[in-house]
Amino acid sequence: MGYHRITLTVNGVMELVDVPSNMTLLQMLREKLGLTGTKNGCASGECGACTVMLNGEPVNSCMVLAVECDGADVVTVEGLAKNGQLDPLQEAIIETGGVQCGFCTPGILISSRALLNRNPKPTEFEIREAISGNLCRCTGYNRIVEAVKKVAGTE
Ligand code: FES
Ligand code: FES
Repeated sequence: MGYHRITLTVNGVMELVDVPSNMTLLQMLREKLGLTGTKNGCASGECGACTVMLNGEPVNSCMVLAVECDGADVVTVEGLAKNGQLDPLQEAIIETGGVQCGFCTPGILISSRALLNRNPKPTEFEIREAISGNLCRCTGYNRIVEAVKKVAGTE
């Protein structure tokens, strides 16, 4: 198994990591960098639990090889809070009760943050479309959508 040395920025911090050729971005974040906020649900691109931002776009990190991320900018759920202050989206999802068992929450937060970054006033349809790749087994999508609308000021 070949190893590759890559450098990338994760949550604003430059990282230098040695990764095997077949290691996914998800495995690298969790196993090499200890960032366990990003969840492993299906490991096959179906559930969205592993969603992170890669160069500003939400991606399923279980479907991206770590070596592909040389030079990239990655943001995980750990990177949403700044200076001990939660992202307004994190505050809102707590307030609305959109965190249920919490397993899908990191991925939902990343998909929603990416949406709000490119479209600060999304319609309900656009919100639902943006999180359509994030499966919630607790199935309570309404409170999650409510949280995004709250931050967008479109409740
Ligand atoms: S763990 Fe990546 S999509 Fe399910
Ligand atoms: S809150 Fe439980 S899977 Fe979504």
